[in-house]
Amino acid sequence: MSLSEKIKQLRSEFLNELTLASTSKDLENLKVKFLGKKGPIPALMIELKNCSADDRPLLGKQINDLKEELISHCNLTESRLKDAEMLARFSSEAIDPTLPGRRQYLGRSHPLMQMMDRAIDILAGMGFSVRLGPEVDTDYYNFEGLNFAPDHPSRDMQDTFYLNTEWLLRTHTSNVQVRVMEEFAPPIRIIAPGRTFRNENISARSHVFFHQIEGLYIDRNVSFADLFATMDEFWSKLLGEKVQTRFRPSYFPFVEPGLEVDVRCTACRGKGCRLCKHSGWLEVCGAGMVHPNVLKKGNIDPEQYSGYAWGMGIERLTILQYDIPDIRMFTQNDIRFLSQFP
Ligand code: DAH
Repeated sequence: MSLSEKIKQLRSEFLNELTLASTSKDLENLKVKFLGKKGPIPALMIELKNCSADDRPLLGKQINDLKEELISHCNLTESRLKDAEMLARFSSEAIDPTLPGRRQYLGRSHPLMQMMDRAIDILAGMGFSVRLGPEVDTDYYNFEGLNFAPDHPSRDMQDTFYLNTEWLLRTHTSNVQVRVMEEFAPPIRIIAPGRTFRNENISARSHVFFHQIEGLYIDRNVSFADLFATMDEFWSKLLGEKVQTRFRPSYFPFVEPGLEVDVRCTACRGKGCRLCKHSGWLEVCGAGMVHPNVLKKGNIDPEQYSGYAWGMGIERLTILQYDIPDIRMFTQNDIRFLSQFP
C-alpha cells in the first residue's frame, strides 16, 4: 500500500472509530491510540523518509494535515461529550427546591421530669436543697439504718432487687436520709429526687422502676404542726389551688408516728369520682416524724433534735394529674403520648 493510501486509510479508520466514541473516556483512549507518540502518525513520518524526494513535500503536508484534522475532530468531540456528560450529571443530581421541607419537632422534657421539676422548684422555694443518693446502695442505708431490723417483717413490704447479700437497688429514696445525717449537722432541710426499684410484676398500675422525691427536715423543736404546715403549703402549690389535706395513721419503720397524706380529690373536689375511687380523697405520700433510732444512726441526738420526713411517688402523681390509664406509657417512648405534655 502506498503512503498516500495509508494516509487515507488511517483517516477513515479514525473517523470510523470516532463515531463509536460515546464518552469522554472513549475519546481519551482514541486520542492516545491515534495521536500518541507511539501512534500511527509518527510511524507515517518515518515511512516518509523512504519516499522519493519529489513526493515528500506533498505527502509530508498530507500527514500534517491529517494530524491537524484528527486534533480538531478530537477537540470538537471532546467538548460535545463533556457538555453532554455535565448535563446528564446536573439532571441526575438535581434537587427540587419546591418540595416541602421535612418538619423538625421541638423536644420537650418527659412528663415525669416536668412533674419532678415542678415539685423541686416549689420545695427549693420553701428552703429545701437537693441531695442525690445512689441507686445502687447497701442494705444498711436502704433498710438497717432506717430501723428495719434484719428479721423484721417490714422488710417483706419491699420486694427488693438484691445484687448480693449486701448490695441492692434502692427501693425508696429514703436511702438518702442516714447518708445526709452522717454528712451534715442539723439543721437539715433537704429533698432527694431519684429513681427507685422494686421487684414487681409489670402491669398498668405497677412497674419495676419508678421515681420518688424524699423530703427530710431536722432541727430543734420540729413538731407535727411543722409537718402539717409544710404538707398543706406544698400540696396546694403543686396542685395549683388551696387543697385540703388529711392525715391517716400508717406504719413505716423509720418514722413514729407514721402517716399517709391524702388531698381532696382535684377532679371532683371531694364529691367522689372515678379518679378518687369515689372516696373524695387522693393518697399522695407517706410521711411521719423521724424515728429516734434513725436519728441515732445518723449521729443526731434525739433528745435535742427532731424532724419529719416524707416520700412521694412521681408516677402516681403524674397519673393522677393527667388521668393516665397505664404506667407503662411513661417508658414506651411513644411520641404521640409524650407530645401531649407541653
Ligand atoms: N419510703 C416510703 C415508700 O417508699 C415512703 C415514705 C414514707 C417516705 C414515710 C418517708 C416517710 O420519708 O416518712 O413507700
